[in-house]
Amino acid sequence: MAKILNFAHRGASAVCPENTMAAFRRSLALGATGIETDVQMTRDGQLVLIHDEELSRTTNGKGYVKDKTLEELRTLDAGAWFGDGSFKGEKIPRLEELLELLQDRDTILNIELKNGVFLYPGMEEKVIAAVRNYGLSSRVVISSFNHYSLARFKELAPDMETGILYMEGLYRPWEYAASVGARALHAYHWAVLPEWVRDAAQNGVVYHPFTVNDPKRMEFLIDAGVAGIITDVPDVLARLLERKGQ
Ligand code: G3P
Ligand code: MG
Repeated sequence: MAKILNFAHRGASAVCPENTMAAFRRSLALGATGIETDVQMTRDGQLVLIHDEELSRTTNGKGYVKDKTLEELRTLDAGAWFGDGSFKGEKIPRLEELLELLQDRDTILNIELKNGVFLYPGMEEKVIAAVRNYGLSSRVVISSFNHYSLARFKELAPDMETGILYMEGLYRPWEYAASVGARALHAYHWAVLPEWVRDAAQNGVVYHPFTVNDPKRMEFLIDAGVAGIITDVPDVLARLLERKGQ
């Protein structure tokens, strides 16, 4: 039986500022076997890891990522807002920094393309080039709420896995996933029923539900047969998987 993947959502985001190198490193120490991160694009076409299109929630900057150069973004603090201030000095990482961290490990990287609000033309090609450059093509899952982008991604890079992100209400989502070339369903976790997990598996499609922090809910999904879980608390999931011998 394949091991159930433990994806740290934005890194170990319960205990570190999300989408920082500190959060990614900590998640590995806490037992994550996968990392989920969000990628946006700067004015000068660089890929950076930050959830929001706008800077003010998680940095000391203001305005949209798309209107700033990488150099401007690198002057910002992405850690001071969190907790007691001990993460002051964390920067918005470039995608390449995370790829480098994972290069010599067997961690699976879930790169979420944040191209639903702003379309970021050319983002797919840039992500493909970066992943290839670090030799990680077989260890990524590319997800997005923009399924046109995922279909395009799969055409450009058939060797990389993709997963459709959605909230609810898709009828036979495994058939829909197949229509955009995706092998994984990154479903909001309340949109997952055990019989659907079984039917998806029979059609070669796996579930990676998000974002699951309650151990009881994790256990329900594990017993339903999901292939991975996206969580803010990878330590909690790691302990549960160990207890269940998975
Ligand atoms: O990839 C799962 C999850 O991250 C999708 O939602 O808003 O947390 O990026 P969000
Ligand atoms: Mg995300």
